[in-house]
Amino acid sequence: MTGLRYEQCVCEFDDAAVDSAPSGTSSAAMDALAAAIEARLAVPGLAIVPGNKLQELSDRDLSAWFKGLACLLGTLVPQNLAGETLVEIAAQAGDAKSLRGYQTSESMLLHSDASDVAALLCLSPAEQGGINLFVQARTVHDEIAAIRPELVGEYFEPWRWNVLNLGLTGSNAELISPIFSVHAGKLSCRYGSYFLRSAGNEAHPLTPLQLEALDVFEAVTRRQDLLLRYRLRRGDSVWMNNYTLLHGREAFQDAGATPRRYQRCWIRSRTPPNVGASFAVFDATILAHYAEKWQAD
Ligand SMILES: [Fe+2]
Repeated sequence: MTGLRYEQCVCEFDDAAVDSAPSGTSSAAMDALAAAIEARLAVPGLAIVPGNKLQELSDRDLSAWFKGLACLLGTLVPQNLAGETLVEIAAQAGDAKSLRGYQTSESMLLHSDASDVAALLCLSPAEQGGINLFVQARTVHDEIAAIRPELVGEYFEPWRWNVLNLGLTGSNAELISPIFSVHAGKLSCRYGSYFLRSAGNEAHPLTPLQLEALDVFEAVTRRQDLLLRYRLRRGDSVWMNNYTLLHGREAFQDAGATPRRYQRCWIRSRTPPNVGASFAVFDATILAHYAEKWQAD
């Protein structure tokens, strides 16, 4: 089994694409870049857009450029109850237990976000650490099939997900979705360690087999030989197919004056993903809840 390589994912672009930065508007060069990103989102599932041509832009222009490019790939969807479509990713002060993972400086296990595509823009890298990690879902599946074939079927079963800390309540606070799914011959994946493990409770404890399946899944996603490690610099962006690629990051330490700052978009693709109904329901429930709340407030 081999991991992703940078050369498979990189999208170079024409200087003319930078000219649209202040307004984030479309242009032939931006359209060409969007098409290159879409091609890599299909295979291998990750697009890396190097930011070396963008580093002189102000934060505001860089952000507008990123958001404009995201809009060429589909519709931006709210990521929280506040309805934000561009979310700041940075370590916040406070009790880690009350913060989401992206609001801390701790490492994040490999996982998928909600939405078809997630995109991250680096405004300022960490002083130390904070390297982004990526692995293809297919790689994880095939590795588990090679080392623990008896566990593979478990991931295709319906799993309970506790999504209470995403702000969902009532019957929406628990979703049912497999971890792996095959639809029309295509493998898809959804993974979130906290959501799966915290769904186990007195009424519905996780079985020893389920716990082992989670342990093995996470052990495989920690394998350095299977991961692409990429340190984003200012202006760099990464675009991830949430159905075929998992992402995470290493812990980081900030320098006082320039903390690690990223921005994130979640995108509903203009080309609907070819995934099974259980996965579509999973996303639709979370994202529709945010959209409803946002419009109602
Ligand atoms: Fe994420």
